[in-house]
Amino acid sequence: MSRRRLAVLTSGRGSNLDAIAAACASGAIDADLALVLCNVTGAGALDVAARHALPCRLIPHGNFASRDAFDRELQVALEDHGIDFVALAGFMRILGEGFVRAWEGTLVNIHPSLLPRYPGLHTHRRALEAGDREAGATVHFVTPTLDAGPAILRGRVPVLTGDSPASLAERVLGVEHRIYSRALAWCIAGEVTLAQGKAWKDGVAISDAGGLDLSSLEAADEG
Ligand code: GRF
Repeated sequence: MSRRRLAVLTSGRGSNLDAIAAACASGAIDADLALVLCNVTGAGALDVAARHALPCRLIPHGNFASRDAFDRELQVALEDHGIDFVALAGFMRILGEGFVRAWEGTLVNIHPSLLPRYPGLHTHRRALEAGDREAGATVHFVTPTLDAGPAILRGRVPVLTGDSPASLAERVLGVEHRIYSRALAWCIAGEVTLAQGKAWKDGVAISDAGGLDLSSLEAADEG
């Protein structure tokens, strides 16, 4: 199989893009990061893409009359660049069902909560309001229902006394950077796949348990 061509879709600061670009450059992810698509003018992710000298296209969603028209433009850009795997990294637009179905199994997202808790926005504030003792992030396959696709890998962090949504977000972000590259490496190598609505690794339906857990993997690495 020829080398996989990865696209990252992003809307904001781009710290996950930065981590993924570094992992592609080091070979930790065996793919060419062949396209960055950003829908927000002036987003920090555009600077990150420039710093890594990545092919980049700005497609402001406001230029399109409908979600479908925006999705079609994304699809054209992905096809133009020969993309075969897509990672959403802080991409703040909901993708339509047609787009998601076309990429099913080769489309993943990172979400800043321990899914299935807190799909959608304001995850850190909601975790604090609920009095949770731990928080985290989840990498999952994207399916048409928002933040509900089969989970691949999650990373946990403690919630500390006095945490604000911002301080908790910063702690979670550190774990996001570690889990996303790891999960992407597996998916791109074909070691994690989507079948029968579940994420599979080594013959095990890992999504049944909410995905694998970073701390067990890191403990195994050290052992
Ligand atoms: C991350 O917390 C991601 O999980 C969420 O949006 C944030 C994006 O951060 N969906 P960045 O743009 O990768 O720095």
